[in-house]
Amino acid sequence: MTPPATTPAQRNPAAPPPLPQARGPLSGSVLAVLAGRGTRLPDAGTVRRADPYGDDLHLLLYVLYELHYRGFAGTDERLEWDPALLAARAAAEDFFTDALRRDSGTGGQDVAEAVDALLVEPVGDDGHSVSHHLQREGRLWHLREYAAVRSLYHLKEADPHLWVVPRLRGRAKAAMVAVEFDEFGAGRAEDIHAQLYADLMADLGLDPQYGRYLDAAPAQALATVNVMSLFGLHRRLRGALVGHFAAVEITSSPGSRRLAAALRRAGAGPAAQRFYDEHVEADAVHEQVVRRDVIGGLLADEPELAADVVLGIAATGYLEGRLADHLLSAWREGRTALRTPLTG
Ligand SMILES: [Fe+2]
Ligand SMILES: [Fe+2]
Repeated sequence: MTPPATTPAQRNPAAPPPLPQARGPLSGSVLAVLAGRGTRLPDAGTVRRADPYGDDLHLLLYVLYELHYRGFAGTDERLEWDPALLAARAAAEDFFTDALRRDSGTGGQDVAEAVDALLVEPVGDDGHSVSHHLQREGRLWHLREYAAVRSLYHLKEADPHLWVVPRLRGRAKAAMVAVEFDEFGAGRAEDIHAQLYADLMADLGLDPQYGRYLDAAPAQALATVNVMSLFGLHRRLRGALVGHFAAVEITSSPGSRRLAAALRRAGAGPAAQRFYDEHVEADAVHEQVVRRDVIGGLLADEPELAADVVLGIAATGYLEGRLADHLLSAWREGRTALRTPLTG
């Protein structure tokens, strides 16, 4: 007799997700090692022949980073620190970082200028903004696809940024932790932003189980999450992590206002709207704290990190732009932006 299908509510929300499907030889060899079925891993030369923004390389990075978050069902937890896997990850990270330095228009050291550019909101829709598009003409299926894609980050919201805390001191550390305290619900489990996002997903009829939409997410979405893990996991990139965090917090409030409006217009329920409503309020405050104390405190201590802060801001904008172009080009042609369309 076949057991009854489990509903999302019956599953253990702490359970690690299953391993995803491979997207090419690089991710295939890593997934085989994680599944205990293989031993061969790609060398640096092989990694550098891949597309630095492509599915295969970004799934390789994503699954190796995920070992530091929730892991995968049936995967030996000791593999988190396996030297051969770390060597494969380092080769992919170096290749990706080189591509970001080359393509994201960095090279400056003027942090104030880079931050000011984030504050200049496009007044109208410049044709490349997902939140403007969704506010103006988003249909419910666009919003569901958007929520599924963003679940890769928002179900572990603020986790990648916590790694920077031991690498900071004084004003930057106190301010970073103050913002993260809010992200983690200010002492209330039901208000953890990742939980608010799970509530949003359930409201939209999506499965809020962690990792559920990894197979469906395009490479452009994986790259936006991988860059946080990359910056978070390397002490030498602490300036870039702070720059990335600033870019997220400063651009969040106006974008969240548009997404809340889009959800209201599409008839989504109150839980779906609450996630973005919360970010309109919270991130207006976070923006100030990050600007003045996290960036200001870090650069007062270590002014030589200015170029890395700019890199973090520029790389975030570049990768978000790539994701926006992918989503909007698919939706404007009336087709799914996911690798596998949503059901239900
Ligand atoms: Fe948040
Ligand atoms: Fe925030």
